[in-house]
Amino acid sequence: MNLASILFDPVSDKHAKQKSKYTVDRMIPGAFEGETVTRRHFMTGTANVAGIVAAGAFVLPALGFAFGPVFKSTPHRWETVGTVDAFLEDNYLPVVITLTPGIGEAGKTTVYVRKRNPAIDTDPYDRSTRFIAVSDRCAHLGCPVRWVPAAERFICPCHGGVYDLLGRPVGGPPVRPLDRFYTRVVGEEVQVGPRYSVNSELRRFSPRDPGEPLDGVGQYLYPSRPTAQKP
Ligand code: FES
Repeated sequence: MNLASILFDPVSDKHAKQKSKYTVDRMIPGAFEGETVTRRHFMTGTANVAGIVAAGAFVLPALGFAFGPVFKSTPHRWETVGTVDAFLEDNYLPVVITLTPGIGEAGKTTVYVRKRNPAIDTDPYDRSTRFIAVSDRCAHLGCPVRWVPAAERFICPCHGGVYDLLGRPVGGPPVRPLDRFYTRVVGEEVQVGPRYSVNSELRRFSPRDPGEPLDGVGQYLYPSRPTAQKP
């Protein structure tokens, strides 16, 4: 082989070689004339597809059950809980509102309501804070808390959680203050609306679940549900 042929003869490219699509041409043992997929490949593919379908039949309903409620939005409701004269500035009055209509007692919850008191309520004043409505759902694991007027504390019977007059945790395991509800005055009536969560400075956040802190990185680690909106 001389130098010219080495330099100028085309180099054979093994990748450029076209493979036949027929199994017979590819000299596969047991191949049939006109066959393009071996039986082994065909059976393997069929088994894989069947496996994926079977796994999907189990996994997809479980995922839907787990994550479906996250994306289910509930319509905002406003419920009248009394007249403006019925509530005090220095004590809460328990009222019962319906959170989920149509399921009887299970859809109801207790809310503690009082008139805003400028001497103790330091969070920004707006039309939603003329009356303070505090949820009875403990911010630890969700047990119902009870307002004890003599101690001016909300007490949780489950794990000893204690909250002050503003609903901020002062003892036990709760990770954030008690949730609140938007309020508004229509005529002479006080109405309670959607729930929202607050951090230790009583800054408002979209509703969170119990056990989800809202201070520091907690507000980013536990984002609100996509369907949780302000009214
Ligand atoms: S549920 Fe209230 S302290 Fe645990």
